[in-house]
Amino acid sequence: MHKQAPNFIEAPAAAPAHHAAELAAGLLQQPACVAPKHLYDPLGCRLFEAITELPEYAATRTEAAILAAHGEDVARVLGTGLALVDLGAGNCAKAASLFPLLQPSHYVAVDIAAGFIREALSALRLRHPGLPMTGVALDFSQALALPAGLPTGPRLMFYPGSSIGNFEPAHAQRFLRQAREQSLGGALLIGVDLVKPLELLLPAYDDALGVTAAFNRNLLLNVNRQLGTDFDPADWAHLACFDAAASRIEMHLRAVRDVTVRWDGERRDFPAGATIHTENSYKYRIEQFDALLHAAGWSDTRCWTDEHQGFAVFAARG
Ligand code: AVI
Repeated sequence: MHKQAPNFIEAPAAAPAHHAAELAAGLLQQPACVAPKHLYDPLGCRLFEAITELPEYAATRTEAAILAAHGEDVARVLGTGLALVDLGAGNCAKAASLFPLLQPSHYVAVDIAAGFIREALSALRLRHPGLPMTGVALDFSQALALPAGLPTGPRLMFYPGSSIGNFEPAHAQRFLRQAREQSLGGALLIGVDLVKPLELLLPAYDDALGVTAAFNRNLLLNVNRQLGTDFDPADWAHLACFDAAASRIEMHLRAVRDVTVRWDGERRDFPAGATIHTENSYKYRIEQFDALLHAAGWSDTRCWTDEHQGFAVFAARG
């Protein structure tokens, strides 16, 4: 029995001044933009969890159904007993559901939201007292550089939920290459949302209850805290659209009236209708993503999908 509390590593975070400078530069851009990582403050994490339960947002459920249907095949392909590195672990539920199949030797939960994984790991430890666990608070949106002190044998890099879709394709390839290096000769298990008809895609990002709208607008409250801006979320409407040429859903916030935002001696005027770009979510075709994996150095790729080919789970060797 491994009775120790989960080990916790806080990777040196970028200084608050760095975040503030990055945010200010984005707000002064034409059109303005804010990086999607700012969607995930504690409330944003909870709103995202709620999104995954919406009838319109099928990605999370479909991924879980694929893994439930093909889990044994997945474990056979990947092998068991590797250290499981969960990238963007959130509440750790997805990885935990795979413990019985993958029988990891160690569980490493990596997420930008330190408080969120701390809580999740404490709860998980009670259910899996024999499994060594490490939490890593890390923002890997720019580069995947895992800290020292983690298991040094081959690792299974787990990146579910199609979070890879939130990277620009060139950045996605760089990230996948870094993940391969960090796998230390291990493997990859990754979820990817696929191109599908617009009547399914758009409501997934503009749901009837307005949860995705709240998730998007909550980013402004997070920016207020980090940069000292005076955004009022009531001045902004949620906007989701599909750019077919780029194969991506875009989220924006649109000023519903003339708005002036002030911070730290700076200001930005947003006339009614002006937008702030907050997220891209790329949708891939199976063969396109397979090519991306190979371009990033992964081999022996395998893919499982649902009957409508709405989502794919890929496995690959490092
Ligand atoms: C985390 N990520 C994969 C989600 C997505 O679908 O791109 C984030 C999200 N944005 C709006 N709804 C969900």
